[in-house]
Amino acid sequence: MDNSYDISFTNTFSSLTSEELVNKAKNRLSDFRYTHCVRTAKTSVDLAKHYGLDVERAKVAGFLHDYAKEIPVEEYVRVIKEEGFDQDLLNWNRGIWHGVVGVYFIEKELDVHDEQILNAIRNHTTGSPNMAELDKVIFLADFIEPGRKFAGVEDARSQTALSLDDGVGFELRHTLTYLIEDQAKVYPKTLASYNVYGVKQSN
Ligand SMILES: [Fe+2]
Ligand SMILES: [Fe+2]
Repeated sequence: MDNSYDISFTNTFSSLTSEELVNKAKNRLSDFRYTHCVRTAKTSVDLAKHYGLDVERAKVAGFLHDYAKEIPVEEYVRVIKEEGFDQDLLNWNRGIWHGVVGVYFIEKELDVHDEQILNAIRNHTTGSPNMAELDKVIFLADFIEPGRKFAGVEDARSQTALSLDDGVGFELRHTLTYLIEDQAKVYPKTLASYNVYGVKQSN
């Protein structure tokens, strides 16, 4: 049976029920991205168990990490201009916005205000120079969930099983390499994260 759509929560960290949370996510997301969110939530649960973190919190954060990824650009621009965000964000795109600004929509539409969850979502595309354990779990679950097929994903999975910091370092090196090969600009926080987690300890 196809269970790629199935997920439920015993604690939603919200006034919404598990069913309401799932339905709202389904309404905001394409099938392609919704199923990625379900797989990321399940991988987040596995990592939370492996590293002794709160499993339900990791499940909610993993599930909601891309909740805002398909919100229209015009809506983001309006929110960035009107809701007190750093105006430099206007020089970036949804790739960056759906974490940093995405939490605005998650708080408003889903009534989730748990700071650990929100921070993990804020940091999930860029990393951060000072990541909490949950931030690392969501950052990595997004990268290694079973739908990911890129060259090196097995290395990423084995590094992550050994140490969250090693996994984060691997992912940041991979992301930076990709951005540079693509001649894409690097968000400053991604570079700052690389300088903490991506470099050899002796450097
Ligand atoms: Fe994302
Ligand atoms: Fe994602």
